[in-house]
Amino acid sequence: MLPEDIETEIDKVLLTEEQISGKLREIARQIEADYEGRDLLLVAVLKGAVMVMADLARELQRHVELDFMAVSSYGKSTHSSGVVRIVKDLDADLTGRNVLIVEDIIDSGLTLQWLRQNLQSRNPASLEVCALLRKPEALKVEIDAKYVGFDIPNDFVVGYGLDYAERYRNLRSIAVLAPHVYS
Ligand code: XMP
Ligand code: MG
Repeated sequence: MLPEDIETEIDKVLLTEEQISGKLREIARQIEADYEGRDLLLVAVLKGAVMVMADLARELQRHVELDFMAVSSYGKSTHSSGVVRIVKDLDADLTGRNVLIVEDIIDSGLTLQWLRQNLQSRNPASLEVCALLRKPEALKVEIDAKYVGFDIPNDFVVGYGLDYAERYRNLRSIAVLAPHVYS
C-alpha cells in the first residue's frame, strides 16, 4: 500500500515489498554457498543502494562486513556519464578481501564499470557485483554481475532507495513514476 498522496504520482507498482524480500532471500542463500569459508565485505554506493544493503545483509546468516562509498557524477545531465568523483571513500583496505559490490540498479552500466575498475585496482582477492535491478535495454557497456534480482523494462523507477529529485527513496515497493511528475 502506498500513501494516498504518493499514489497519484505513481503509474504502477513494478515490484512489491514481498517480491523484493523473496528475491533477496534467494540471493542471500546463493551468496552463503558461494562464499562459504571465506571472508566477505559488502560495499554499497550511497544513497540508492542503502535499502538493498540493509535487507540483503540482514538476510545473510553469516559474518559480513559493510562499507559505504559516496560518489558524485560530473556534469548535470540526468543521464549517467560514468565519470564520477569520490566524495567519501571506503574505510576498508580491500587488499586480499572478497568484495561484493551491492547496487540498486544497473542502468547504462557506466557507473558500475567505473566502480569495478576503481575497486579492482585496490587488489581485492575477488570482486563481484550484486544488483537488485537491471535494465537490459539501457545497457551501454557489458557488466559482469554475478547476482541480479530482476530485469526490468527501460522505465524510470523509484522507491526502495531509488529517487527522483531525492523523493520516493522511502517507498517499500519499486514503482514506475507517472510522467506528469517529471514533465
Ligand atoms: P548507470 O548504470 O546508468 O546508473 O550508470 C547510475 C545510477 O543512476 C541511478 N539510476 C536510477 N535511479 N531510477 C532511479 O531512481 C532509475 O530508473 C535509475 N536508473 C539509474 C542509480 O542510482 C544508478 O546507480
Ligand atoms: Mg546508485
